[in-house]
Amino acid sequence: MSCEYYAGKTAVLTGAASGMSLCTARTLVAAGANVVMCDVNAEGLGKAAAEVASVGGGKVYPLVTDVRKYADAERAAALAVEKTGRIDLLVNYAGGSEARCLNSFKPFYEQPVEVLDWGIDVNLKGAIYFSRACMPYMVKAKSGVIVCIGSVIGFEGDLHCPMYGAAKSGLFNFVVSAAKAGAPHGVRAFCVAPGPVLTREAMAGMETLLGRASEPQEIVDFVLHLASDRCPSVTGSTHLVDAGRLCVTRGAKSGK
Ligand SMILES: NC(=O)c1ccc[n+]([C@@H]2O[C@H](COP(=O)([O-])OP(=O)(O)OC[C@H]3O[C@@H](n4cnc5c(N)ncnc54)[C@H](O)[C@@H]3O)[C@@H](O)[C@H]2O)c1
Repeated sequence: MSCEYYAGKTAVLTGAASGMSLCTARTLVAAGANVVMCDVNAEGLGKAAAEVASVGGGKVYPLVTDVRKYADAERAAALAVEKTGRIDLLVNYAGGSEARCLNSFKPFYEQPVEVLDWGIDVNLKGAIYFSRACMPYMVKAKSGVIVCIGSVIGFEGDLHCPMYGAAKSGLFNFVVSAAKAGAPHGVRAFCVAPGPVLTREAMAGMETLLGRASEPQEIVDFVLHLASDRCPSVTGSTHLVDAGRLCVTRGAKSGK
């Protein structure tokens, strides 16, 4: 990963109280980048931001935000620009399966509508809101990268979290439109779609062709590499990093 590229740059990260987003914050700050860490979980965000700040390097700006609220997305973009004068990178990490996050494991046709709404609002609309709020600053600067985090479930679908799957596949298409809007202004947009990632122990149990789940840092390094000046041609595309999970569910034999 080209760490030196990020020195002095600014990233807005959603879902930054935990998992891959927190790992991204740590990696970027160590590289000398400033990060606006956004999360709805105030307590978790406070702890995460203190931990990232102790890494040293770039500055850390925690901001309690709900990605379902457009005004919160605008506050995050404005904070980045007020404090650092720029937004070079937005990574939309906030998300999760509606069944797991709301502890509502029912067939689709029995799920409360509030659960369905949560799945779409957090996983799809949240990324669109933050992209909408950050992109004008990037267009003005004639530079910037928007990353959406999809999932292999966006290809596979899932019995327990149909909104999660629908939202993630929606992001595959959204980055095409965002890339078209951004291209004349030097702004790129793409999606990274992980398979199982060990931000939770349970992910180790998901079948993959390689018989492994990804480490969070693997995905983070891949995202930051594609978003750096090493990959100026990457835009409008979705990049699957799933240890061959989709090969298995498409019928190839597992390596195990
Ligand atoms: N972990 C995996 O195996 C895996 C696989 C494929 C895709 N993904 C995707 O990668 C992304 C990050 O996953 P992770 O496992 O690192 O995350 P995680 O579950 O550790 O963290 C998600 C964060 O999002 C925050 N969040 C939830 N609702 C929010 C809201 N309304 N507003 C703001 N923040 C909110 C949570 O508080 C949490 O800190 C997610 O979009 C997830 O769907 C994860």
